[in-house]
Amino acid sequence: MRDELALFSGNANRPLAQEMADYLGLRLGDANVGRFKDGEIRVSIHDNVRGVDAFVVQPTEPPADNLLELLIMIDAIRRASARRITAVIPYFGYARQDRKDRPRVAITAKLVANLLAVAGADRVLTMDLHAPQIQGFFDIPLDHIYAAPVFLQYFDRLGGKDLVVMAPDIGSIKMARAFAKRLGAGLGFVDKRRPKPDAAEVMNVVGEVEGRHVIMVDDIVSTGTSLIEAANAMKKLGASKVTAGATHAVFAGDAVENLQSSLIEEIVITNTLPRNESLPSKIRVLSVAELLGEAIDRIHGEKSVSSLFV
Ligand code: R5P
Repeated sequence: MRDELALFSGNANRPLAQEMADYLGLRLGDANVGRFKDGEIRVSIHDNVRGVDAFVVQPTEPPADNLLELLIMIDAIRRASARRITAVIPYFGYARQDRKDRPRVAITAKLVANLLAVAGADRVLTMDLHAPQIQGFFDIPLDHIYAAPVFLQYFDRLGGKDLVVMAPDIGSIKMARAFAKRLGAGLGFVDKRRPKPDAAEVMNVVGEVEGRHVIMVDDIVSTGTSLIEAANAMKKLGASKVTAGATHAVFAGDAVENLQSSLIEEIVITNTLPRNESLPSKIRVLSVAELLGEAIDRIHGEKSVSSLFV
């Protein structure tokens, strides 16, 4: 039995996969993830993966082709007799539909979990899930890691006793609490309502904001509306400065332009999603490649992953 580690990438975020391979001192696995003329996805694995411990890196942001590429790659690697396959999903898309919040809606997070297992994934490694409970949708082992160490290293430089970490909605409170504790900062949250999908309204702000430097942290920035509306409310309440951090920069529609012209002074994101557009000065990208690479190394070596965060 071989115990080699092999790292493959789909097309969703090759630069991140390459950075992870560099960290691990590996070359990216040789695979063709292409298309037939009609657009259908066609995968062929060129390396011999018989008996190897294979990791497939692919965030599953829209279009759904990204998810499908991942499933088809897993299928190809499984049929090529890999010993174990781990789906490395830096951004787990379709996660926001995680419960029946209205009648007759889908639970896409569960559907995607089922699809991964059926395709042949033996385990999953992912980062900053929209809701940690999604882990329970999987009957295969899942390692859920956090981008927090990368953000905290950056935010640490801000220092200052007047910092307050703000959750832009109830869902981000746990994340904000962990940041506040680590930064020795105050904590607050925004009572946000969504009058319709992709719109956000600030109802109340809980916490001390006047004269403070507010750091807002969230898992996802999509249209940017949640962060922008929250920043407007913070400024109205007398915040001296507003900085924002979000792990997964989906950037839907005019998000980049709207964030650039907002009252937020700096927006810090990570590279879980690819960045093809050139970003304006306000937006800073931090890399999570080392964190993910280290987690892969530990999974392969059967070592603790949680000890990465203590
Ligand atoms: C929401 O529930 C998430 O944690 C984010 O707050 C949300 O996805 C951000 O969306 P947008 O940027 O479109 O306001």
